Amino acid sequence: MTDYPKRYTITAALPYANGPVHIGHLAGVYLPADIYVRYLRLQERDVKFVCGSDEHGVPITIRAKKEGITPQQAVDKYHELIKKSFEDFNISFDIYSRTSSETHRETASDFFKKLYEEGKFIEQTSQQYYDEGAQQFLADRYIVGTCPKCGNENAYGDQCESCGTSLNATDLINPKSTLSGLKPVLRETKHWYLPLNDYEAWLREWIVEGHKQDWKPNVYGQCKSWIDQGLQPRAVTRDLDWGVPVPVEGAEGKVLYVWFDAPIGYISATKDLTPDWETYWKDKDSKLVHFIGKDNIVFHCIIFPAMLKAHGDYVLPDNVPANEFLNLEGDKISTSRNWAVWLHEYMQDFPGKGDVLRYVLAANAPETKDNDFTWKDYQARNNNELLAILGNFINRAVVLTQKYYEGEIPARGELTDYDKDVLGVLEGMPMVVASYLERYRFRDALGELMNLARLGNKYLADTEPWKLIKTDAERVQTIMNIALQISGSLNILMEPFLPESAAKLRSMLNMNQGKWAQAGSAELLPAGHIIGKPELLFEKVEDTAVDAQVQKLLDTKKENEMANAEAEPAKENITFDDFSKMDIRIGTILEAEKVAKTKKLLKLKIDTGIDQRTVVSGIAEFFDPEKIIGQQVSILVNLAPREIRGITSQGMILMAENADGSLAFVQPSKELKNGSGVR
Ligand code: 2FM
Ligand code: ZN
Repeated sequence: MTDYPKRYTITAALPYANGPVHIGHLAGVYLPADIYVRYLRLQERDVKFVCGSDEHGVPITIRAKKEGITPQQAVDKYHELIKKSFEDFNISFDIYSRTSSETHRETASDFFKKLYEEGKFIEQTSQQYYDEGAQQFLADRYIVGTCPKCGNENAYGDQCESCGTSLNATDLINPKSTLSGLKPVLRETKHWYLPLNDYEAWLREWIVEGHKQDWKPNVYGQCKSWIDQGLQPRAVTRDLDWGVPVPVEGAEGKVLYVWFDAPIGYISATKDLTPDWETYWKDKDSKLVHFIGKDNIVFHCIIFPAMLKAHGDYVLPDNVPANEFLNLEGDKISTSRNWAVWLHEYMQDFPGKGDVLRYVLAANAPETKDNDFTWKDYQARNNNELLAILGNFINRAVVLTQKYYEGEIPARGELTDYDKDVLGVLEGMPMVVASYLERYRFRDALGELMNLARLGNKYLADTEPWKLIKTDAERVQTIMNIALQISGSLNILMEPFLPESAAKLRSMLNMNQGKWAQAGSAELLPAGHIIGKPELLFEKVEDTAVDAQVQKLLDTKKENEMANAEAEPAKENITFDDFSKMDIRIGTILEAEKVAKTKKLLKLKIDTGIDQRTVVSGIAEFFDPEKIIGQQVSILVNLAPREIRGITSQGMILMAENADGSLAFVQPSKELKNGSGVR
């Protein structure tokens, strides 16, 4: 028998409270963490699941500035929004805390002080970038430039999000202040550094010798490559006015670097959760697991462990099962381009369908490589898997039991070889699913769960109780009993993935929340037990619903293209005389109608102040003729008349063309007398 740890401390990356959370966050971090924790609880292991909002650092102050609010107002707003999204998706944190709390300030401060007093930091004055316009030092995201490693032109002062390299601002090529857009100057400032180089040998032994086998290859590979490149001292303080103040003399106006305080947030959250927090962080029988996205690997596998080691009191992470990234419809998820499915918007558009998204994201989780989320796949997985396999099997089992036995589970009679085989697979299934979950292979675990539902469907399809009921009613009792045992086990095994649907199924089967150890048993639901009424576990997702989501993304793409569209270069110069030859007047549209058999042409009657005349204009795709009557327009009145589709057009209406090709009238900003000249 495997020896399990006495207790588990499970953390999920603290999201920055600078915006809502999207499907990439859910798929990469919170869903796998939640599946794991729910599984551990079903196994009756002692587990604490902690998270909270990361409320310090430049990401917050930049967002606050953008919205014209204070950093505190920004974190208050987004903390609530994020917390609500996690609740809506049933992410079952034992605590969702925040790093602006008093407990956290004290914990982070004490942590720093201990290291400071024990001489674990290097104090160093160096030249750092300063924005003379904004009159402040440019920490982290206040500075962008070209990544020296991969050439990404938008790398931040502390990290390149494109290649994942952790950087110092002075490494950037062509640095630029994000506050003023100016080239920064260098100024002297004092900071405290954690000498990561002193921990290099220890980190190598701990990771390369100790975790080569059990850490995921993507995580291990990144760590090894950092260690192989050689580690440098890393500044753990910043010149900023938002964060945990550096608790030593001579550090006025300085705060702890957000990546120093944020992981300590896991400890402060546990403190807020339980007076017994120290056991979860200091007892060597506590297993610490960090769920994160791949951009956070260096902080959780190198820097935080070095901090914990320097402190000396804490356990180190046993595993850091970081995921790769989830893309959306073939493109990288991006907050700035609004290329995302936001969790709060999903909930508005698909109320009550949190489990469907959980399922799709778990089935397609970016565990070993970046994966793509598409709305077509969402629809297919709902309709062809959740509904057609899992929902269909449960529905048949419950409906037939109600129909034949008024909900009372019949006893099994003599078993055929087929029955024995099915019960054998059922018995082994909890072990199979568990062995994947224990190794953080959530996709495979879910696949096995669905295989059990497939087996249930096949069993019913092969044995055809609905036909047999007329000829061999006794045999049907055995079949339905077995189908219900499968349903009961599915209920337990699906809970980590689909908690809301599992709760619904529990009430259908009239059973309590079972433990993992009970799953697989042929006696889970005893003969004579009365089940409840059938309900549909899943609903079909219609084309209209996913088409609307795809359209939303297409609209976003168009908006982005428009925002980035560059104006055409100016045409060749003309003389003032050339310009003055044009006689442009303000006129009013009196009549408008489509020109028969054309798509683009409108025939307009215009009061030009000089006369009333007919103009044919190619604007029919953008304007409804009835709606433009009475509008004032600019009209070139001395353009030589032209024949268009048998109509004499006398002049031209001036139109402005948007980047997407749509048209707008060039109109006076207040109503003018018809005939007024435009110069
Ligand atoms: O990348 C992020 O969103 C960070 N806020 C994660 C912090 S994780 C931890 F250390 F708190
Ligand atoms: Zn890079």
